[in-house]
Amino acid sequence: MKTSLLPLRAVITGIQGETEDVKTYSLSLEGSSYSAKPGQFNMVGYPGVGEAPISLSSTVSEGRFQHTIRTVGKVTKFIERFKEGDEIYLRGPYGSCWPLEDAMGKDILLVAGGVGIAPLRPVVQEILQRRDSYGKVTLIYGSRSPDNMLFMNEFDMWRKNIEIFLTVDEVPPHMKWDYDIGLVTQGLDKARLNPIVTLAFICGPEIMMHFISRGLFIRGFLPSRVYVSLERRMKCGIAQCGHCQHGSKFVCKDGPVFIYRDVSRLPDGLL
Ligand SMILES: Cc1cc2nc3c(=O)[nH]c(=O)nc-3n(C[C@H](O)[C@H](O)[C@H](O)COP(=O)(O)OP(=O)(O)OC[C@H]3O[C@@H](n4cnc5c(N)ncnc54)[C@H](O)[C@@H]3O)c2cc1C
Ligand code: FES
Repeated sequence: MKTSLLPLRAVITGIQGETEDVKTYSLSLEGSSYSAKPGQFNMVGYPGVGEAPISLSSTVSEGRFQHTIRTVGKVTKFIERFKEGDEIYLRGPYGSCWPLEDAMGKDILLVAGGVGIAPLRPVVQEILQRRDSYGKVTLIYGSRSPDNMLFMNEFDMWRKNIEIFLTVDEVPPHMKWDYDIGLVTQGLDKARLNPIVTLAFICGPEIMMHFISRGLFIRGFLPSRVYVSLERRMKCGIAQCGHCQHGSKFVCKDGPVFIYRDVSRLPDGLL
């Protein structure tokens, strides 16, 4: 069996509640040579319960990294009950990554919707580690309401080095919100983008990625400069079971990060 198929046992070293149904788990794989690139994912779970694909929500340093997980179903409800010191199992890293090497010297636009900010957070962390290697960096992030926004306490620090536009669909009465109200697509009007020198990385609901991509093409972006991260139900994570197949592509192996041009006309896509 290949090493990457063997589940690794990670210790939960910290748990941070982000929203009502999202938590960030700090994990440690001490003693392992584990490394991963922004955009890749692990199959995360527990023996006898199951596994779910979860993106890394941080960069990896000496076997330590984070996963940010929304509780939706069987596996994530099981994980939700874990406490600090508990053990969790994972296989990976799997899949493709955001093209940070190709983006060197260029501007980068990051667009996230909801939990879609999780796989883009390690992109920001890596950019901040070598800020001089990139041009202008812009983040547009939208969620349903202020209490659904993740990583709000990190944005002030990020803002020193990148431009950030935050928006929510609606603000419930008596809730404080100092930023925009409206769809994430409105952020494209505010950000001053140069399509010739910019690569766009988009992650969120597929309908959002569709409209953001369309908005970028209208503004002069080529489909070869727009990257999207796709979600499909997965079982094996290694292109063997067919659960995640999207036309001729396996989202687990060829993706999850794709060039828009390569997935826009595949059969089951909204893109
Ligand atoms: C590459 C990749 C990266 C991801 N990264 C993250 C991440 O960083 N954070 C994160 O929170 N999520 C992430 N996800 C999503 C996550 O993998 C899914 O939410 C996963 O299904 C959760 O597993 P579960 O067992 O908890 O939920 P499941 O039991 O699989 O349920 C998931 C959802 O599907 C519905 N559902 C379940 N069974 C069926 C059925 N038979 N028919 C129709 N609907 C059904 C449930 O009601 C629920 O809404 C990622 C997905 C992919 C593909
Ligand atoms: S999850 Fe099995 S083929 Fe992709």
